[in-house]
Amino acid sequence: MSGQPLLSVRDAHRDYPHSGEPVHAVRGVSLQVTEGEYVAIVGPSGCGKSTLLNLLGAIDRPTTGSVTIGGTAVSALPDKAATHFRLTNIGFVFQRFYLLPVLTAQENIELPMAEAKVALAERHERARELLGYVGLAARADHRPAELSGGEQQRVAIARALANRPIVLLADEPTGELDARTGGEVIALFDRLNREGMTIVVVTHDEKLAGAARRVIHMLDGRIVRDEPLLRRA
Ligand SMILES: Nc1ncnc2c1ncn2[C@@H]1O[C@H](COP(=O)(O)OP(=O)(O)O)[C@@H](O)[C@H]1O
Ligand SMILES: [Mg+2]
Repeated sequence: MSGQPLLSVRDAHRDYPHSGEPVHAVRGVSLQVTEGEYVAIVGPSGCGKSTLLNLLGAIDRPTTGSVTIGGTAVSALPDKAATHFRLTNIGFVFQRFYLLPVLTAQENIELPMAEAKVALAERHERARELLGYVGLAARADHRPAELSGGEQQRVAIARALANRPIVLLADEPTGELDARTGGEVIALFDRLNREGMTIVVVTHDEKLAGAARRVIHMLDGRIVRDEPLLRRA
């Protein structure tokens, strides 16, 4: 399906109701992302980056306009169907990791597979494979509190990949990390993209934005610049 847009946003607006004037967080965004792209969304705080990413991941729906992911018009899906679509098609990574503290690294990675009713043996095998992929095979039995921030984010990335999503979305994934551990996350995203994963990342981190192949600049709920970067060797 090369050349076909994997993600397509058409004239999306997202208003948050608010006492008095509603907040116009996204104001008429149209955007297409092709399979295999690595896109960074940048812009000042409050300009609508997270709101747009949530629309792209079917976490939220536009007030008007439409969002299509892999041929499915997700903005038109009822809530339950949207939740199931998200579980099996979208990998989401958050600034604050959101791992469950009572579960081990391995169990955190297995959780979305359990929700998707993947068989136990396959869950174990896939989680171990993912722990190896993110370089944490030796930390399988550690709980989040026994992991560094960078390790927790790598577990969260492995969890996001568990159900083999068609796209990986990340909101400020290095925002809580120091330069070195942030660098590990950047290297991991780079490897994933080289292996074919489509990635859209919201970031303030210039190193992370510089690793993407295309940078979309937002201001006041709109896209004001959309620039492809030269593919590096
Ligand atoms: N749930 C919400 N309810 C009301 N206003 C919100 C909500 N979420 C975000 N906003 C407002 O929408 C605008 C865009 O927010 P956001 O998408 O989080 O920006 P960014 O991620 O670029 O910092 C901001 O003015 C923010 O205060
Ligand atoms: Mg944000």
